[in-house]
Amino acid sequence: MNMTKWLGAVLLSVLLLVTAACANTGTQENTQSEKENVSNETKEKNKAVETGNKSLSNIKVLATGGTIAGSSNSDTDTTGYKSGSLGIDKVIASVPQLKDIANVTGEQVVNVGSENVDNALLLKLAKRVNELLKDDQVDGIVITHGTDTLEETAYFLHLVVKSDKPVVVVGSMRPASAISADGPLNLYHAVKIASTKEAKGKGVMVTLNDRIASARFITKTNTTTTDAFKSLEHGYIGEVAGEVVSFYNEPIRKHTSESEFDVSNIKELPQVDILYGYQNDQKYLYDAAVKAGAKGIVVAAAGNGTMSTEAIKGAADAVKKDVVLVRSSRTGNGIVTHEKTDDEHHFVSSDSLNPQKARILLMLALTKTKDPVKVQRYYEQY
Ligand code: DGL
Repeated sequence: MNMTKWLGAVLLSVLLLVTAACANTGTQENTQSEKENVSNETKEKNKAVETGNKSLSNIKVLATGGTIAGSSNSDTDTTGYKSGSLGIDKVIASVPQLKDIANVTGEQVVNVGSENVDNALLLKLAKRVNELLKDDQVDGIVITHGTDTLEETAYFLHLVVKSDKPVVVVGSMRPASAISADGPLNLYHAVKIASTKEAKGKGVMVTLNDRIASARFITKTNTTTTDAFKSLEHGYIGEVAGEVVSFYNEPIRKHTSESEFDVSNIKELPQVDILYGYQNDQKYLYDAAVKAGAKGIVVAAAGNGTMSTEAIKGAADAVKKDVVLVRSSRTGNGIVTHEKTDDEHHFVSSDSLNPQKARILLMLALTKTKDPVKVQRYYEQY
């Protein structure tokens, strides 16, 4: 090979070697910078998780059980499942999108069907909610709950929560294991509502089936359907459509921060029972409730709280034994008006509260007074 060709070959080799080295360095640089990017990205994520993403609200999810935490071996079984069988971590993990809208942490208060929520649990839940809402690191609370008595818990909290921060109670009509389970999206909506600044000051809210309702008006109106929760007379206060939370109304009766009911020092709520009004009902129902120690009786009476002669005899005897008697309506809707006969018998009328909510208000009223005139005022204000 003559000298010229040899030199050309050497130069080409050197050029190839330099190019390869640059590419490699570049690769190394890329690998290095990729490593830096990955580690920075990971660092960001870890920081967001540990300290919470500063741009997102901190929402605490308190779990009590119910269908939203229910499961069954069959994905078409939407009635025979066991409610309250999944822990809150599993329920939250089933909606990974929650981490995009809030810094969510969960706490299992209890894991029961809501038919077994009792006065002790109401007090425990209310005290925990009030304790958490005092923490400026908590921006709002979501409570997962069985739907059967959800409206009672929500209304109780509506009357005793001492904060304007959003509190949203959520449930589902189908278990987590069912085809088209409604729980995950209901939970997503609840966290979204609790993270929305317009939600402040609206009292305790309830969301299922894309609607936002006030605890004061919402009631369960169907045994199984996903649209079971209705706010029949006064409508919903808002709606969630896609990613948009919209409010249109809010309750004007007293609630949360403006409520005079405070359970912080209450160890036990007074026993209040509900008696149903129907044809041929008898006085002995009232005698039995008084004998068992009821401090208040709510009557789910026919129509506008109309009681039979027998029932009135039983109720009047109960009042003579210091029991407060509230007339509500089994229609579950409309206003039970205060009548002259109420003044004669010292009965109270429930305004627009259905029997199960009239009981909640009467329990709290009895922590303050047994005077029917004063109790009546609570039904006019709350
Ligand atoms: N056991 C009922 C309850 O916890 C199931 C109904 C439901 O959660 O939807 O209320």
